Amino acid sequence: MLLSSLGLLSLLASATRAAPSWTVEPFNPPAIPLAVKHPYLNVWLPQGQGAELNRNWPRLWTGDVRPAVFRYVRVDGKAYSWLGASGNPGFTPATQTAFRFTASRSEFKFTAGPVELTVTFLSPVNTDDLLRQTIPFSYLSVAVASKDGAAHNVQVYNDISAEWVSTDPNADVYWNTTVSSAAISHSVGLRYQAPFEENRDLIRSGTVYLSTPNGDGVTYQTGSDAVVRGLFLSTGALSSTKDTRQPRPVEDQWPVFAHAINLGNITATPANKPVLFCIGHVRDPVVQYIVKGGALTERAPYWRSRFANVDPMISFFLADWVNAMGVAHNLDARVDTEAGKISKDYASLVKLSIRQALATFEVTLGKNADGSVNTNDVLAFMKEISSNGNMNTIDVIFPFWPIVLWTNPTIGKLLLEPHFQYQTSGLYPNKWALHDMGAHYPRANGHNDGNDEAMPVEESGNMLIMMLSYAQKTGDLSQIKQYYSRLQQWTEFLIEDSLIPADQLSTDDFAGRLANQTNLAIKGIVGIKAMGMIAELVGDAESAANYTAIATSYVEQFQTFAIAKDGSHLTLSYGHDDTWGLAYNLFGDRLIGANIFPQSIYDMQNAWYKTKLQKYGIILDTRNTWSKSDWQLWIAAISDDELKHGIVSSLVRFYSDGINSTPMSDLYYVPEGRENAFKARPVVGGHLALLVLP
Ligand SMILES: *[C@@H]1O[C@H](CO)[C@@H](O)[C@H](O)[C@H]1NC(C)=O
Ligand SMILES: *[C@@H]1O[C@H](CO)[C@@H](O)[C@H](O)[C@H]1NC(C)=O
Ligand SMILES: *[C@@H]1O[C@H](CO)[C@@H](O)[C@H](O)[C@H]1NC(C)=O
Ligand SMILES: *[C@@H]1O[C@H](CO)[C@@H](O)[C@H](O)[C@H]1NC(C)=O
Repeated sequence: MLLSSLGLLSLLASATRAAPSWTVEPFNPPAIPLAVKHPYLNVWLPQGQGAELNRNWPRLWTGDVRPAVFRYVRVDGKAYSWLGASGNPGFTPATQTAFRFTASRSEFKFTAGPVELTVTFLSPVNTDDLLRQTIPFSYLSVAVASKDGAAHNVQVYNDISAEWVSTDPNADVYWNTTVSSAAISHSVGLRYQAPFEENRDLIRSGTVYLSTPNGDGVTYQTGSDAVVRGLFLSTGALSSTKDTRQPRPVEDQWPVFAHAINLGNITATPANKPVLFCIGHVRDPVVQYIVKGGALTERAPYWRSRFANVDPMISFFLADWVNAMGVAHNLDARVDTEAGKISKDYASLVKLSIRQALATFEVTLGKNADGSVNTNDVLAFMKEISSNGNMNTIDVIFPFWPIVLWTNPTIGKLLLEPHFQYQTSGLYPNKWALHDMGAHYPRANGHNDGNDEAMPVEESGNMLIMMLSYAQKTGDLSQIKQYYSRLQQWTEFLIEDSLIPADQLSTDDFAGRLANQTNLAIKGIVGIKAMGMIAELVGDAESAANYTAIATSYVEQFQTFAIAKDGSHLTLSYGHDDTWGLAYNLFGDRLIGANIFPQSIYDMQNAWYKTKLQKYGIILDTRNTWSKSDWQLWIAAISDDELKHGIVSSLVRFYSDGINSTPMSDLYYVPEGRENAFKARPVVGGHLALLVLP
């Protein structure tokens, strides 16, 4: 019997959202993005029930503490902290009064004696401009305003320690400070660099930078934490001297890299001129990449198309802050308009997802023999963060795809191109599409033995659907034309193995293998239809008619296998009427405008899911009580308004109830609202699914 979904929804209204003592807008997430720009500059503030910026440590997405941040403000000689857990004497924590997040910013307000501080973390999202999007830096700005109208004497302090480059306190580090008219930049890096090795998911190479614009009243210092912080707390300024005892281990008198800015007697910092810092994690080379013949090449970061080295990039980035804030406001307005059209709750899910999704890949350039970069050789590489670190995993790029379509489809083309290059190099033996470009980021060394994690129907279907939707969105047929025969090869495989899919994994590999998966059959059939439409786009009318005819006949036969005998729902696998699952691959049918599956199937599933919606969502399938946030939103995108709003609200509840404390998880137990291991993953780009259907 159908449960009244209205009754269910009102029951759900009494949720226990995290309720910190400061105001939150739109809600308090499990973790707050601070500097979230790429897989190794990916720093968050865990929340749970709510945690102040200045009583807790920022953490890498893994949960490893980045304790090496201390930020103070001195007001009329009295010191207050606004970032980092306290421990040192001589200051009091400022009082956090407000937090809000938008699509690219996390903003905190504090009261520090007679002044109000506004602390803003901006990780720029500028997908139309690949250079700006890929600069591996994030901003931090501090605005000060008098609360009583009187002028107050204000100095702002900021430091990081060498813990930003290593999770090992015994590791030796080197550092520099560069002073130019534009900027004062500290840099710190490991003595022994291993460009393609990670330790606890932190890369063992590269350099971390902390910079501020140079100008009146700016001092700096490097040296032991106690000495440098102590000097600021007592005098409000630093010595502008460098500690030269290096290299030394991270924990040997804990070297810190600090700036102090004396604002003098002020009532407010000008709106366009807050105290500004930027933090970056820079590497060159960024990835290793296998090419035809099997050689492993090294690739440079995309910013080298414009800047020969880091210093001019930092000057550019600092000077670009006003522009970056303008871009951030435009993005916020676009999210509010387009996602807000669905609901305010949906807009807030989108806002929380964008930075996380876009911080999972890097754009790279090929290098010439002399080390210079080849600006015509552009490829993007993604880390499958937290689930296993695979590189450019196709069934992770696929759920990520909606954010590609909504921002800049070129990013998708650049992520898929390595797959085409590798699979046409002759090095990969399987007839179906490859799972990933390498077992662990940042080594894209392929799978010449063909033993990548096999998801034959999944990945072949994904490639075809993504290629078609890219072409539909952009009109650019170049990749399709160049790799047409490879697309046909995968389609041939789908024709063999989609209607009756063999025992195999789908993208939901944590659920295990299964034969005759209904949802996988949908993927394969939509893939065949997508190839029909691709063939039509390139003028291959004969193949177009053939593939379309095959897909159409498969849909007919599929219905006899996949629908439960009582006609109430699609089964999880053929013939098992007591099973069901999220048939989210129907989203692909709508995305490419194929509409090859009849409306009656959508209607049947819509009614079925309404009876299955719980407080924190709908389970993935009857094998377990867990679910996936991305796939639920794909279902929401093809559902009626009532189910759509029900799913969106249940996900906002999951992300705001104060139960979890990591970057957005996409895999969680529905009854408890408790996350599984997955977090900080690219697939939250799929939360934008409701914005991209034609
Ligand atoms: C410091 O500067 C030297 C000389 O320019 C350079 O070789 C080294 O890589 C720099 N180290 C860091 C951590 O920036
Ligand atoms: C700031 O104000 C204090 C107290 O009014 C005064 O002693 C000091 O000279 C002023 N400093 C500057 C830089 O104007
Ligand atoms: C898969 O489904 C087909 C069609 O219903 C059936 O003939 C076949 O036995 C099933 N295979 C398995 C392994 O259940
Ligand atoms: C249609 O495709 C099937 C499967 O690839 C193939 O066997 C058949 O020859 C094709 N028919 C035509 C008319 O192209």
